[in-house]
Amino acid sequence: MENLRQTDQVIRGWLKEIRKDVLGELHDPLSVAEKSSRKDLVTNVDKANEKKIIKYIRELDPEAKILGEEGQGDRVTDMQGHVWIIDPLDGTLNFVKQRDNFAVMIALYIDGTGVLGYIMDVMRDIIYGGGPQLGVFNQSGQLPKPANISLKDGLLGVSGPMLIHDKYHLQAIDEASSGVRIIGSAGIEFIQVLTGKQNGYISHLMPWDFAAGKILAETLDLSVTKVDGTPVDMLSLNDVLVSTRDTHKDILNMIR
Ligand code: IPD
Ligand code: CA
Ligand code: CA
Repeated sequence: MENLRQTDQVIRGWLKEIRKDVLGELHDPLSVAEKSSRKDLVTNVDKANEKKIIKYIRELDPEAKILGEEGQGDRVTDMQGHVWIIDPLDGTLNFVKQRDNFAVMIALYIDGTGVLGYIMDVMRDIIYGGGPQLGVFNQSGQLPKPANISLKDGLLGVSGPMLIHDKYHLQAIDEASSGVRIIGSAGIEFIQVLTGKQNGYISHLMPWDFAAGKILAETLDLSVTKVDGTPVDMLSLNDVLVSTRDTHKDILNMIR
């Protein structure tokens, strides 16, 4: 336990350093490249953050495997042992277009179990972090479990493309909620659910988009599954649903 608390402090220290780096680059021209499409970008800041986080992890946990979005870590094929999953800059399109609404995420899994997860909202300077043994904390203290509100009583975060294509009858699901919100950063969307500002979030996500959020959400008694209710796969693309338990039931009833 003491060890976990120390590691928690160490990771928060890394994130603070990363934040300083990002803020230092905020007003400089970015080097931006397209990955799969013009809406899927990577910048010099994504790459620099990943390089630095990997260096920090290697110093702390040299035997661990590291799965990083920009590919500077390891080729991870299973979840045995210590596996760190990092999204060095989540919401890169927001970062490029808005210089706002982006996150940095770090997660540690041991033998497939989530142990520590961190989501840093860079521009608001808040780190949400912890895990099942520590609880979830930000600088202001421990986060309470969000109220278990139903679909109709809350705001639902969604992926824009999934809504446009009406995947899983998402338009009807959104109609049944109090309203739909689209932020464009999985990390910031997870924060909305962790803090009870939204009752759920549905999106098409890679492991680094949801690894940290899953640990934090489950610690707060929220449900994290694929949209069909089955367990998420930590090593591939998933259509993920994170929500309060009642909203989870409501959405599954509408999908089935
Ligand atoms: C993206 C964002 C976005 C989600 C995409 C992700 P990135 O992450 O989280 O909200 O809809 O699926 O790829 O590429 O900016 O790290
Ligand atoms: Ca991401
Ligand atoms: Ca990213």
